[in-house]
Amino acid sequence: MKKFAVIGSPIGHSLSPKIHSLFAEQAEIQINYEAIEIIENDFNSRVKQLFEDGYSGLNVTLPLKEKAFHYADMKSEDALLATSVNTLFIKDSIVCGETTDGRGLLLDLKSKGIEIEGLNVLILGAGGSAKSVIPSLLSSNPNSLSVVNRTPEKAAELVKIHKQKNPEINQIGIDEKIHQEIDLVINSTSASTLGEELALPEGIFGPKTTSYDLAYSKEATPFNLMAKKRGVKKTYDGLGMLINQAALSFEIWNKFKPNVKGIDLKLRS
Ligand code: ATR
Repeated sequence: MKKFAVIGSPIGHSLSPKIHSLFAEQAEIQINYEAIEIIENDFNSRVKQLFEDGYSGLNVTLPLKEKAFHYADMKSEDALLATSVNTLFIKDSIVCGETTDGRGLLLDLKSKGIEIEGLNVLILGAGGSAKSVIPSLLSSNPNSLSVVNRTPEKAAELVKIHKQKNPEINQIGIDEKIHQEIDLVINSTSASTLGEELALPEGIFGPKTTSYDLAYSKEATPFNLMAKKRGVKKTYDGLGMLINQAALSFEIWNKFKPNVKGIDLKLRS
């Protein structure tokens, strides 16, 4: 039986084992998919050991995606643009790294009727999660993509990386007032995971704004609750992205494209 795992820290509450077992049922194959706690300092030795032990593929989650990027001998174009890897596997004795986060987000947005092309999008945060989805957002031709971060230098750095090829990316200061209507606000910060307040620029939510929190939880996420309080009607959390990025990994490993419809309801029940 093929062995897979999701690695990260903390990993106890990961939904990935459940999602992959639902996909395996669809594919009518038997797999063994575990959640394995690995801390950053142990990354190289533990991952080497897992592949030696016969694991066919690894999903990588926080805080290890950058480590995985550096570990992979061969990286996909998406991974290179995102400087992030969430899917590792061995092909012809070479460790290959892919990121399915950005495409997972786009597929989920699409399934919710949101096409990025022509939209004014604003992303909160400039850490690893923002980095991993920004290239996909830009490849969908938004009218604008504004990056807002508590530490402005980090947002500036991210904008600089993409600005030449994508002049529609820009930075907005947390103290600035926003004048244009934002169609989609994406929260990529870890503020709510850390139980912290999240300061927002004035005018970020308008009557037509949709909010999307990359984090997910059984109840509405703190960010989406805040958005709702400020009049946002459509709010989504990142469960759909999680399912879609998992489906893309599953397809790479098992050459079977899972049907993601209804998986969210199974996970939320
Ligand atoms: P991840 O991989 O989840 O993106 P990360 O790389 O540590 O984690 O990035 C966390 C992001 O959340 C950063 O943009 C961080 O802002 P700073 O660059 O200013 O640290 C943001 N963040 C975390 N807590 C926050 C808070 N309380 N308010 C605003 N932003 C916060």
